[in-house]
Order: sequence, then structure tokens, then C-alpha cells
Amino acid sequence: MRVRKIKGIEEKIEKVAGDKLILKPEDYKGKWHKIFGNYNPIFIEIGCGKGQFITGLSRMNRDINYIAIDKVEEILYKTALKLKNDYNLRLLLTDGRLLTEIFDENEIDGIYLNFSDPWPKNRHHKRRLTSIDFLNQYEKVLKKKGRINLKTDNSILFEYSLNTLAKRWKLENITLNYLYSDEIIDVETEYEAKFREKGNLIYRLEAVNTKEGE
Ligand SMILES: C[S@@+](CC[C@H](N)C(=O)[O-])C[C@H]1O[C@@H](n2cnc3c(N)ncnc32)[C@H](O)[C@@H]1O
Repeated sequence: MRVRKIKGIEEKIEKVAGDKLILKPEDYKGKWHKIFGNYNPIFIEIGCGKGQFITGLSRMNRDINYIAIDKVEEILYKTALKLKNDYNLRLLLTDGRLLTEIFDENEIDGIYLNFSDPWPKNRHHKRRLTSIDFLNQYEKVLKKKGRINLKTDNSILFEYSLNTLAKRWKLENITLNYLYSDEIIDVETEYEAKFREKGNLIYRLEAVNTKEGE
């Protein structure tokens, strides 16, 4: 995504998001229920982009807590601009690589990866959000049987993700032509809308954390 720099972005995002933007997320490791004031399940989206998905989903499920993560301030600002009375949603300006510094083991119920940057060159594969290094972090912060829900239009990323996930995760509901169904509560993302309009196929999968323990 090409990003136009915004002057004074730091103050702007803080002003618009207010206390929904968590400035030092590592301070809340193991204590995210305090931020939300309840013990409801917590789902995160890594690479939330402009936020259509996470703001839509959080309004559909008020008894679930959501955390939107993006590493680019100018992009997360677009999510902040969509905020209304979203008491079950928080925003983090951080890199998904830092997940285990921010969340304790078993603190998270589910992870959404929507149209993640594909990094098509083989030498960049470690940057993909489904590389083994990322999956190892997801395995820790997710509860046993916690899920990754992934959507993409990129066949290279999808094939790669199937292979990395197949090593330790239980794969379910794999589809090479994802159309909305009543069974899956879902919201279209900005990229999804764009790719559907172009006629691209959307691939989708769910991966269940098979780790031992509670
Ligand atoms: C292609 S966009 C997709 C945005 C959105 N999910 C959608 O479907 O419309 C990918 C987003 O992921 C963010 N991103 C990429 N790598 C990231 C990382 N390691 N940590 C956090 N955000 C990341 C980018 O800044 C960008 O906003």
C-alpha cells in the first residue's frame, strides 16, 4: 500500500482515537481484560489497514473484544477515523512481530489475517505474516484451539500459508473461492472489495491451534 505522509500524524491519531489508542501496549501484557473491563474473548487483526473489517465486526459482536493492529501510523489513522462508540475495540500502532511482548500466553482467542502483504519474492518469505516465526508467536498468545482466520487473493501467499500451517495447525474450511455464507460471520475488507470488483478469487482458511495444555 502506497502511503502518503501526513504532517503531525502522531498528534492527529491520538486526538481522533483518544483512549482507544493504546500507546504502551506492552504494559498490558496479561492484563488486557482490565483495558476492556471484562473477561470477554479477545480477537486481534494484524494489518488492519483502514479498518472497515474490524470496526464492522466489533459492532456485530459487542460481547467480543477486538484489537486492531497496524504498523503504519498513517494507515491506522484511517481506522481511527472510523471509530464511533466502539467500547469493545482498541487500536495498536505496532508490528505484529512484537506480539509476545504485548500478549501473555493464552490471552488471545483468535487472529484475523486479511489480505496480508504477500511478499512474493522468495527471499522475503520471513516477512509474510504466516512465516514460521510469526506462527510460533501466534501459537503462544493464542489459547489452545484458538483460531487464525485468513483471507487473501494471493495464490503464492495462500500456498505458502497452507504449507507453514500444515506443520502444526489443524486446517479447516479451506476454500479457493470464498463467497460470504451465513455460517461465517464476516465483514468485507477494503482490499477484498477491490479485488472482488476486479474479479479475483478470494482464498480463505481457518487454522486451529493444536498446542498441548489448557
Ligand atoms: C495489503 S494491506 C491489507 C489491509 C486490510 N487488512 C484489508 O484487507 O483491506 C496490509 C496491511 O498490513 C500492514 N502490515 C504489514 N505487515 C505488518 C506487520 N508486520 N505488523 C503490523 N501490520 C502490518 C500494512 O501496514 C497494511 O496496512
